[in-house]
Amino acid sequence: MKTGMFVSSKGGSGKTTTAFNLAGKLALQNKKVLILDLDENRGLSKRFGLATEVHGTTNDIFYNKPVRVENPKKNIFIIPGSVNNGELLNKHLNGMPGWEKKLLNWIYTPTEEYNWFDFDYIFFDTHPNDTTLNKIITMTSDVIFDFITGDKIGAQDRLEYEAQFDLLKENKIEINLDTKQFESTINGKLYHIGSAFDFSKTGTQEYAETQKDVLLTIIPKFALIENSKKFNVSANEQFKNMYPSLKKRNKKLMEETDIAYNKMIEVLDAAE
Ligand SMILES: Nc1ncnc2c1ncn2[C@@H]1O[C@H](COP(=O)(O)OP(=O)(O)O)[C@@H](O)[C@H]1O
Ligand SMILES: [Mg+2]
Repeated sequence: MKTGMFVSSKGGSGKTTTAFNLAGKLALQNKKVLILDLDENRGLSKRFGLATEVHGTTNDIFYNKPVRVENPKKNIFIIPGSVNNGELLNKHLNGMPGWEKKLLNWIYTPTEEYNWFDFDYIFFDTHPNDTTLNKIITMTSDVIFDFITGDKIGAQDRLEYEAQFDLLKENKIEINLDTKQFESTINGKLYHIGSAFDFSKTGTQEYAETQKDVLLTIIPKFALIENSKKFNVSANEQFKNMYPSLKKRNKKLMEETDIAYNKMIEVLDAAE
């Protein structure tokens, strides 16, 4: 089982869309994916049509209450998000004993129905904020995917998140009171993902070349990815069920998308 965090310093960078589509691709390959919607805006929960005021949201993980695991599609499981996953939870978390290990301990604690290690992947979809909740998620993730857009603002966002991540790593936690040992509890690897690069626009290709060394991969702007929100069907699933003539038209961008998604799967699989 591998854990992946979907994060960014700004909203609207493609976190939720990529979590949804990557999970969709993996599900087609018969991999079991569990998604935790930890964003107070509940973007992923909305995509799966999950109601707002439900008990058993991801918020309840932090209060040691049982969670609801929905199974909206074959091989895809989701724990709905809560509108309370914002400031309220962040304020309370700092005072909780063992707060930094709350999510990690939860993963190690099976319920009657689920052993979380039976999932091939667990994805954390987050809200862009430098919050306690996001710290906890970072400490729990094998891989951290930071999403940036294909413009100068994206380049700035990447530097911002990198600095934030470095600070978090330096923020060591005391692990042994007697020996005064301190350890960084972040073992996950950070990768930046170029998101929704519009290659039909002049200059994007050239710009992408300049970003090659700092990005793990680039996901192109693609109508099937955009439509995944409207139809709640992943790009790969849409493509699979397409008429041959339409398939031909979408083939190139689907291939480029697959290259990007495969790269993300590769680093998840390679995680210790
Ligand atoms: N690769 C892509 N191609 C086309 N549209 C995309 C792509 N990635 C994201 N989008 C669109 O961008 C918008 C914001 O994406 P979203 O995943 O909600 O961002 P975030 O979760 O980071 O706030 C959505 O309307 C989504 O459909
Ligand atoms: Mg989102």
